[in-house]
Amino acid sequence: MELVVENINTYYGLSHILFDVSLKVNQGEVVVLLGRNGAGKTTTMLSIMGLNAPKSGRVVYRGQDITGWEPYKIARLGIGYVPEDRKIFPDLTVLDNLEAGRKVPRGKAASWTVERIYGLFPILKDFSHRAGGTLSGGQRQMLTIARTLMGNPEFLLLDEPTEGLAPLVVKMLGEFLEVIKKEGVTVLLSEQNLKFALKHADRAYIVDNGIIKYQGGIEELGRNEEVKKKYLAV
Ligand SMILES: Nc1ncnc2c1ncn2[C@@H]1O[C@H](COP(=O)(O)OP(=O)(O)O)[C@@H](O)[C@H]1O
Ligand SMILES: [Mg+2]
Repeated sequence: MELVVENINTYYGLSHILFDVSLKVNQGEVVVLLGRNGAGKTTTMLSIMGLNAPKSGRVVYRGQDITGWEPYKIARLGIGYVPEDRKIFPDLTVLDNLEAGRKVPRGKAASWTVERIYGLFPILKDFSHRAGGTLSGGQRQMLTIARTLMGNPEFLLLDEPTEGLAPLVVKMLGEFLEVIKKEGVTVLLSEQNLKFALKHADRAYIVDNGIIKYQGGIEELGRNEEVKKKYLAV
């Protein structure tokens, strides 16, 4: 098991947000955490990364209890986090944005280089010398993911990558995700976009008001009209 989240309870100040949230991600899987706006997806990501540590429960990565560790130490284990805000350096070129994500490779981890990134994602190569600030929302999203890959993560947390993107760009992002998956990176994705999740994830969890209401295979979810209607506004 790569990642085990066990009965975590997370707060913002006095507001109790996550209630005994548990989930698991196996090596090589793409697991999606679905839920409406405000359901607790980002808070789950922040809990895992130590950016808002749970008050109780455990986060275990590769058998090691990392609950409440400093975020930089968690990142050093090979967990890459792509927040929902798509922050890049607007005045730096695409290339320099990528270089900014470079980290010393750990052990035998496959080493991502700018050349490899460009080989797999030609669109970034085409824009190599453009300032980050001139990119569209979709290109920016790809750049933030690619920059995180430059840190050679073995596990990627992707927080709502398709939010607000046009269908064609979402499709490209899906292809991007398939490449990352093929490269053996394990992914925990959060989404409101059910169609995207059904297409690219292996398993799903649904969070609603901070509580996990559903877990199962992705095809099973696709067929479960009742659950989709109840928790996903479809
Ligand atoms: N910084 C914060 N302070 C207080 N409450 C917050 C904060 N961030 C999020 N929340 C609340 O926590 C709940 C879950 O939010 P979030 O995890 O961001 O949901 P999602 O990512 O699924 O849209 C929401 O009710 C939201 O209003
Ligand atoms: Mg969110």
